Amino acid sequence: MKIAIINGPNLNLLGIREPGIYGRQTFEDFLKGLREKYPEVQIDYFQSNVEGELVTELQRVGFSYDGVLLNAAAYTHTSVAIGDAVSAIKTPVIEIHISNIAAREEYRLRSLIASKCVGTITGLGLKGYELGLLYFL
Ligand code: DQA
Repeated sequence: MKIAIINGPNLNLLGIREPGIYGRQTFEDFLKGLREKYPEVQIDYFQSNVEGELVTELQRVGFSYDGVLLNAAAYTHTSVAIGDAVSAIKTPVIEIHISNIAAREEYRLRSLIASKCVGTITGLGLKGYELGLLYFL
């Protein structure tokens, strides 16, 4: 099984960035543990702060992978292009948020991606990525 994790802007700063909201673990550290726990799954990871690069990566994985775990970060709330890419590809996508976007600022309530995904996991911390992986398994 091939799963792609795609993270958007500022998620390269996990562990440093607002730890009260996003926790103290780096994504690299979390990913190492995830790969060790699920050695039978090929877990590819891509992070970018650039909207178009996220679209390109969705297109790259979106016709051959078994699932995508997408945390588009702030682009969730603004990006028609990323929402369109999710609609355009064949691979099912789960939208992930580390924090509970329903319990934060009002502008985070709107997702331009959610309706194109098989589901959304929000507010469960990094565990949300593992739960998304288990869904695909
Ligand atoms: C986030 C929530 C977004 O609103 C925010 O812009 C992020 C991270 C999350 O994982 O909780 O950068 O996607």
